[in-house]
Amino acid sequence: MCGIVGYVGPSADTKALDVVMEGLARLEYRGYDSAGVALVAGGQVETEKRAGKLVNLQEALAAHAPAPAATAIGHTRWATHGGPTDGNAHPHRGGPEGKLAVVHNGIIENFHALKNELLAEGVTFTSETDTEVAAQLLGREMEATGDLTEAMRAVVNRLEGAFTLLAVHADAPDRIVAARRNSPLVVGLGDGENFLGSDVAAFIGYTRHALELDQDQIVTITPTSHEVINFDGTPAEGKAYEVTWDAAAAEKGGYATFMEKEIHDQPHAVGDTLLGRTDETGRLVLDELRISEEQLSAVDRIYVVACGTAAYAGMTAKYAIEHWTRIPVEVSLAHEFRYCDPIVDDRTLVVSISQSGETMDTLMAVKHARSLGALTISICNTHGSTIPRESDAVLYTHAGPEIAVASTKAFVAQITACYVLGLYLAQLRGETYADDAKAVMAELQQMPAKIEELLGSMDRVKEIARFMADTRSVLFLGRNVGYPIAMEGALKLKELAYIHAEGFAAGELKHGPIALIDAGQPVFIVVPGPDTPHDLHKKVVSNIQEIRARGARTIVIAEQGDEDVVPFADEVIRVPRSSPLLQPLLTVVPLQVFALHLSTAKGLDVDQPRNLAKSVTVE
Ligand code: F6R
Repeated sequence: MCGIVGYVGPSADTKALDVVMEGLARLEYRGYDSAGVALVAGGQVETEKRAGKLVNLQEALAAHAPAPAATAIGHTRWATHGGPTDGNAHPHRGGPEGKLAVVHNGIIENFHALKNELLAEGVTFTSETDTEVAAQLLGREMEATGDLTEAMRAVVNRLEGAFTLLAVHADAPDRIVAARRNSPLVVGLGDGENFLGSDVAAFIGYTRHALELDQDQIVTITPTSHEVINFDGTPAEGKAYEVTWDAAAAEKGGYATFMEKEIHDQPHAVGDTLLGRTDETGRLVLDELRISEEQLSAVDRIYVVACGTAAYAGMTAKYAIEHWTRIPVEVSLAHEFRYCDPIVDDRTLVVSISQSGETMDTLMAVKHARSLGALTISICNTHGSTIPRESDAVLYTHAGPEIAVASTKAFVAQITACYVLGLYLAQLRGETYADDAKAVMAELQQMPAKIEELLGSMDRVKEIARFMADTRSVLFLGRNVGYPIAMEGALKLKELAYIHAEGFAAGELKHGPIALIDAGQPVFIVVPGPDTPHDLHKKVVSNIQEIRARGARTIVIAEQGDEDVVPFADEVIRVPRSSPLLQPLLTVVPLQVFALHLSTAKGLDVDQPRNLAKSVTVE
């Protein structure tokens, strides 16, 4: 997830740089590991770009002021391909003399194949990004056609994946051409000037007239016109609307808080984390891992090390990885792993999970594991952070920056990345479940749509949360993959609403926790799907009966069509059906929404709960 801005004004107007820099400042929440701009003036395209926060770019521009321009594009980056360096920052150049510049949001899945083709033809690359491939292709097409819109159309039809591209060219100084597929892009319509942005925050300081585009469309803007076509060249029209949000709401996509926005980002977090992980035959390819297949095939034990929500992602994934690979997986809180004398050797794979990549406890665990000879893989959301650098390999989640302190979209992205890793290991080992990898990947591809559907049906959950604003204690029960989800539900409630909450394995109830059940005690129960092996569904339904009989108020999260729970539930929250191991990507959603709305009902600061920091960089 990156932020992109474009501005084109009258030729006498020289404010393009200011407009684009202001837009980038408003979009920094979408990415902040590097930033850059391209300005078109005097028959040239000038670019400036810097790794790090926007302030680094501002300083570079102050030290070396570019020629005044009426057309500019800008980018604030959250790295996906290639680390956060000056060279990998956008814009990227293409064509002879680098007359073309491109900024990009998304992931071009087939960039390896396209890059190899260009390399074979003698094209040289200056970055490790997928974007530069698009820039080079566009530069060549522009040479061939002399028309930037036609060039864009030729190129996008060769690209696979998700992308928004903005292109400018020295020979077409009064226009920006943009294209989108599965990645956001809005047009801002001004008076004698026009804008482009990842969202309306990019231009809200200048205009409230916006134009929404459909998937697979190209828009060409000049100061006085905008023209939309489909990727097949047929004419199209965007949908005009008025932006009613203020600037602060615009950054949050119109949601009241970053957490709410990030909960709604989850379909993308899962979808983007799956992008580019398979080849055309459906086999998993994790080139980025850079650990030899021999080394990975020799692994006979896996430790997952992480803290908090990331550790619950690891606990969730353990069930799937063990099932698919038959390799024993132990999940250890990173701070416990570091000092527990773990049994680790060169056949042990230590998988760390961290959104920030800076959690000190997790970093220490990784360093310790390496010192003991283990192979280390980091599952991380932040390019250029410390934990991936200290690991042998990294598998990035593509959730985009998570701003709210409480983790939501990173969690589902972490589980997704763990599934990808588990299936890849199964494929390498040729285990029975390798055959199922394709089917599981196909089902994972459906998860973004299912999460979207679920997010559309949360009204009752919000109501329940509002009614429960005075509640002093809530319990969460789950079994198998539902158990870590119960703990995650409890953690979300503790940190956001400051309510005592506990997550238990449902089977453990009778061994003690059932003593907590009293008249009116609210209990959330995550119910496995009816097809879950070992009659687990039936067993959890019995657990619900047991606590209901003792006066609990049962709030049941169950799959659509599961009628067995109805007689024992005070409330039933439905989730779409899925295979048992993938269910956590769905069941966690109502628990996040519940915690968010209970916190809101109590008037608390959802994005920055008390005593907590987004990144815990001390042991
Ligand atoms: C809870 C939460 C924390 C983090 C934990 C690890 O909502 O956000 O429990 O999951 O501090 O952080 P990362 O993933 O950055 O290592």
